[in-house]
Amino acid sequence: MTRVNRREFVIAGAAAGLAAAAPRQAFGRAPAVLTRQSAKPVVISSANGNRFRNGGTETCVELAFRRIAAGDDVLDSLVAGVNIIELDPEDASVGYGGRPNADGIVQLDACCMHGPTRRAGGVAALEGVRTPSSVAQAVMRQTDHHLLVGPGAQAFARNLGFEIEDDLNTDRSRRLWLDWKRRTDPQHYLDPDREIARRDVEIGRLAAGLDGEYRDDEVHGTINCNGINSAGQICGVTTTSGLAWKIPGRVGDSPILGAGLYLDNAVGAAGSTGRGEANLYNLTSFLIVEYLRQGMNPKDAGLAGLRRIQENTIERRLLNSRGLPNFGVNFYVLDAGGEYAGVSMYASQNSRYAVCTENGAALVPLEPLLDGSPSD
Ligand code: GLY
Repeated sequence: MTRVNRREFVIAGAAAGLAAAAPRQAFGRAPAVLTRQSAKPVVISSANGNRFRNGGTETCVELAFRRIAAGDDVLDSLVAGVNIIELDPEDASVGYGGRPNADGIVQLDACCMHGPTRRAGGVAALEGVRTPSSVAQAVMRQTDHHLLVGPGAQAFARNLGFEIEDDLNTDRSRRLWLDWKRRTDPQHYLDPDREIARRDVEIGRLAAGLDGEYRDDEVHGTINCNGINSAGQICGVTTTSGLAWKIPGRVGDSPILGAGLYLDNAVGAAGSTGRGEANLYNLTSFLIVEYLRQGMNPKDAGLAGLRRIQENTIERRLLNSRGLPNFGVNFYVLDAGGEYAGVSMYASQNSRYAVCTENGAALVPLEPLLDGSPSD
């Protein structure tokens, strides 16, 4: 017998009033799912979800919201949305043209969760597939597992008919890698015109000359995208090329359930961009969903999650001159009623996030936990 709490009621797969919101995609035999009576449909994501169009007309959040409003499965809609970002070489933090690892190879991480069916899937250190979020969704749908990595993930994708490419670098991502290599290993990677370190750096400006560092959001770029439909069905997806110039094989927070993404259909969702190691140490997306469960609103839950990261950041190398974290990390939080918030360790870090409702898409300010910037 299914237990029903006071906030929920049982949709036994066939409640007529909600039929339009039921998943269209086959997940095998549809299980009975717990679903709230109603919610305000919304899609939220990191800012890149309302910046890139890959030559088309819609951004990630616009496409995802349109499909959710039309009654498509929420996760199908979100994955179709982040596919835009993964395929767009202009976003050098996700998918095709993402920043390569220390060997110059683009290794991608992604995961997804489907709240109504309590299913999830992920891939890590996947090479050669432009859309790791779609492979993560295939792991969810077509296996009994949650996470496939490296060559195994690639073989799985190949067997399902995904195109496997030798190299996901673009001219731009290769040039960025070579630029990094010349900085970090100048004895072996010679600079042919001696000016390369200061010119034509497309990942943004350097914080400071030859010894400078890249902005935090330039090395941890990712997209997390979460959505809810009017029936209260919550899903989420996170996809990334991970930390720029990482040690080959490094897996960040993005494909790890509870870190890069977590949701509970009865409670809400949280997902992350930013320094993955800090998030992994605290499983912060899981923590934020638990804070929602305790009754916090999305903003307070997100800020409490960031505070946990701050409290657990004690290594000197990770602290600035004020004794505060010297990195950025953001969370995008959605509750089961469709209320949402975006929170950031610092206001200066990638300080907006994307929202799409029936009123259209917009970039709105993240709520910062700390004043100043990571480098203060
Ligand atoms: N949050 C992305 C990463 O650290 O890989």
